[in-house]
Parts: sequence; structure tokens; C-alpha cells
Amino acid sequence: MTANAKNGVWGADRPIGVAVLGMGNVGAEVVRILREHAEDLRARVGAPLVLRGVAVRDLGPDRGVPRDLLTTDADALVARADVDLVVEVIGGIDPPRRLIMAALNAGKSVVTANKALLADYTGELAAAAEHSRADLYFEAAVAGAIPVVRPLIQSLAGDRVNRIVGIVNGTTNFILSAMDETGAEYSDTLAEATRLGYAEADPTADVEGFDAAAKAAILASLAFHTRVTAADVYREGISRITSEDLETASALDCTVKLLAICERVSAGPGEPSPEDGGKERVSVRVYPALIPRRHPLAAVTGAFNAVVVEAENAGRLMFYGQGAGGAPTASAVLGDVVMAARNKFYGGRAPGESVYAELPIAPIGDTPTRYHVNLQVEDRPGVLAKVAGEFADHGVSISTVRQEGHGSGARLVVVTHHAEESALVDTVAALAEMTSVTSVTSVLRLEGTEE
Ligand code: NDP
Ligand code: HSE
Repeated sequence: MTANAKNGVWGADRPIGVAVLGMGNVGAEVVRILREHAEDLRARVGAPLVLRGVAVRDLGPDRGVPRDLLTTDADALVARADVDLVVEVIGGIDPPRRLIMAALNAGKSVVTANKALLADYTGELAAAAEHSRADLYFEAAVAGAIPVVRPLIQSLAGDRVNRIVGIVNGTTNFILSAMDETGAEYSDTLAEATRLGYAEADPTADVEGFDAAAKAAILASLAFHTRVTAADVYREGISRITSEDLETASALDCTVKLLAICERVSAGPGEPSPEDGGKERVSVRVYPALIPRRHPLAAVTGAFNAVVVEAENAGRLMFYGQGAGGAPTASAVLGDVVMAARNKFYGGRAPGESVYAELPIAPIGDTPTRYHVNLQVEDRPGVLAKVAGEFADHGVSISTVRQEGHGSGARLVVVTHHAEESALVDTVAALAEMTSVTSVTSVLRLEGTEE
């Protein structure tokens, strides 16, 4: 008998039955690793992990696994008495929500990579897990292979996280990096991303920021001990970014990235400050923004992801790696499978949901950021002063102004100091009405500067 078997409450010869729901990009790799590394996994857990079945939609294709492992009846697979641990890698809300709830209600451990589901239903899933004392793990749901969920839940459990800034969507990072490097337009780089298999046939979830918003909601919930759902996240995608935006960013020694930002901000207007017993708030937002090329996230190119966490005592931590792909994502799933299986073997439990802080969500309108405003203007004396006057009239302070081109091609590129979104929106509306402003070509936020 091994030391593990001696210490365990499960019994070294008693297998831990695993059901895998879904055998697509991620599920196929989960199944491969479970089968190829069965002996190592047994040694790490203390008991054998036995694959009881794999649920798919279509039994037709040869998937390189014995046919009798495959089923289209995921509900029946989850309900099997010899299944102790369920891996959900189907994606979407239904049927995963129903299947995971069934597993948790039956006291079975669940590992999922499903950010869309978690961003809206973590409360329901966590309550079911708590009720039946089951485990719910989801490391792969944010930034694929990169360990960021567990560091937030466990390693930083004794610290206070103030801010998270991340590139958490590989498809959009691939597109923006390619636009930056080649000067190509958005539509051409999206076509290239689709050809290379980064972007899906319907790229909406990635390019419009829904995928990143779901991940931001999960990160913010963990970091601030507050339930944040996808609806709480302010979201803008990258589909309106042009090669000209990248060009003007470059002239400022910046690039453009789709950022997920989760941070503590001060109490709302008219409310007492945290020092006076009021509550600070949480701002969670996803949008394309300029960042200086010297910023660590500017060096994250291609389909890679990175997450920077700032904590009161730990300081700044950066996590970098592959945020998507079958094998990288399966690596994170298997890490969770081993954790959940060890808990069965030794009798431990995954940490439950922590939402004790219940911080209010700050609306985007009162979250100050810096802005980069690009204007097509008439090239004649006094225009710059009038443009500057509109910023001043709305209480928006200008940091720099640069003129590019001349005559009918004259452009003004204005960079502001921190300003509230509502003030900037009013400024832009006023600028658009000016006869000397031909058009407001773009308004982008600027992040990652000290000012
Ligand atoms: P895929 O679309 O490649 O695979 C989905 C799988 O689920 C397929 O095998 C499909 O069966 C199966 N399936 C769909 N509906 C059902 C159903 N009703 N019953 C049983 N099986 C069903 O998805 P991915 O592998 O790319 O993603 C899976 C999850 O992992 C998602 O939540 C995703 O967000 C997450 N994720 C994915 C990453 C990635 O890089 N792909 C990265 C991080 C997270 P069939 O094969 O028969 O069609
Ligand atoms: N579609 C996502 C991305 C991977 O492009 O990063 C799954 O989260």
C-alpha cells in the first residue's frame, strides 16, 4: 500500500469515474491526456481516474476512442452511479447549465471551461455545489492554459487585489497585432484569423468583446469578492478599429489592445468615501485602448493572452501564455481534474464562492480614463483654439495636441488627461457640431500611462 493510499479516505483501488461532456477542440485533448497519462494521473491523485464515457452530438465521426465510450445522452452519462467527476467542455448555456446542475446536485465534482455559463450563473452553480458539498473548478474558463483563477482564489487569498488588466482574448489580439505589424485593415486581418482557425465562422463573441467580458466578470468576482455578471461589464469590441487608429497610435509610440480592466474605484458621487464608512465600487470594462509600447501588455502579440494583477502587498504580478487552443486549455482542465480527484481521495473540498464584499458596480459614465481623439479639421487659423475651447468648456483637460497633414487633409490628434466618460461624450458631441471640424474620426481610450 502506498503512502497516498494509507492517507486517503477513498481507497487506492477504488477508481474515480470521469465523464467528459463534449469532444471538440478542448474535449478531444482532455480525453487524450486522460488516456495517455493515466498512470501518472493515478500516482498524482492516489486512485485511478477511469474514463466512463464521452458525450457528443454526433456519433458518426471516428474520434480515435472505443465506440462504446461515446454517447449522445449526456444526461444519462452524468447520472451514472460510477461517475464521480464531470468535465463539461460543450460550451454555451444549455445544455451545460442543466448537466452541471444535475452533477452538482448529485454531489459529483464538476470541472468546466465554460466562461459564458459562469459569467451569468456562477451564483446558482456555486449554491448547488455548496448545498451538496461538491467541487466546482473552472481554471480553463479564463485565459486557457494560464493559471490565473487559482492564484486569485488561493495564492492571493490573504492579499487585497486592487486592479486587473488583461488581454484575455486571443483572436482579437491576433487581429490587432497583425494590423499593427502590417498596416492591414480590420476586415483583411479578420479573414486571415479565420483562415488560420483563430476566429470562428461567427466571430461576434470574440470581436465584439463578449468573450472577454465574460472572462472579466469572472476575474472581477474572484478579485473583489463580489458577484459580477456579464451584464455588469461595460463592453466595446474591435470591429470599428481602423488602420488609421493603429497609425496614429504608433505616432504616439503606442499600440492598440483589447483590454479587460477590473478595478476598485472610489465611492459614487455624493456618497461617503470608504474612509467615512461608504463603499468603494468596482469598475469592470472591456474596450480597445491605446497602451504605450513600453507597457508589458504591448509586448503580448499574436494569439497570446496575459493578465496583470496588482495587489496591495504582492505588488504587480503578470501571467502570460496561451489563452486558447485544445491542448493548452485541456492542460488547465486536467489540473482541475487532479485537484477535484485529490479532494475525493483525501476528503478535501474546493473553495466555494466568496462574495462577502458585495461592492456596487460603478457605471462607465463615472469611470475616469484618458482619451485619444482624432479629428478631421479645416486647416485655418483659430481652429485649434476653438477645438481646445470645447474641451475646456466641458471640463476635459488636454495633455497633448498634434496636427498631422495640412489643407483638406488636416487632422488634430488630442490626448486628454483623465476625464469622466460623460464629459468626454458631451465634448465629442459638441466637436461634431463645429463647422471647422469635418469629422470626429475616432475616440479611443488611453490606458497604462502613469498620469
Ligand atoms: P467545440 O465546439 O469544439 O466542441 C463542443 C463539443 O460539444 C463537440 O464535441 C460537440 O459534439 C459537443 N456537444 C455539443 N452539444 C452537445 C450536446 N447537446 N450533448 C453532447 N455533446 C454536445 O468547443 P470547444 O472545445 O472549442 O470549447 C469547449 C468549451 O471550452 C467552451 O465552453 C469554450 O468556451 C471553452 N474554451 C475553449 C477554448 C478553445 O480554445 N477552444 C479556450 C478556453 C475555453 P460534436 O463533436 O458531435 O459536434
Ligand atoms: N475565443 C477565445 C479567444 C478562446 O480567442 O481567446 C476561448 O476563450
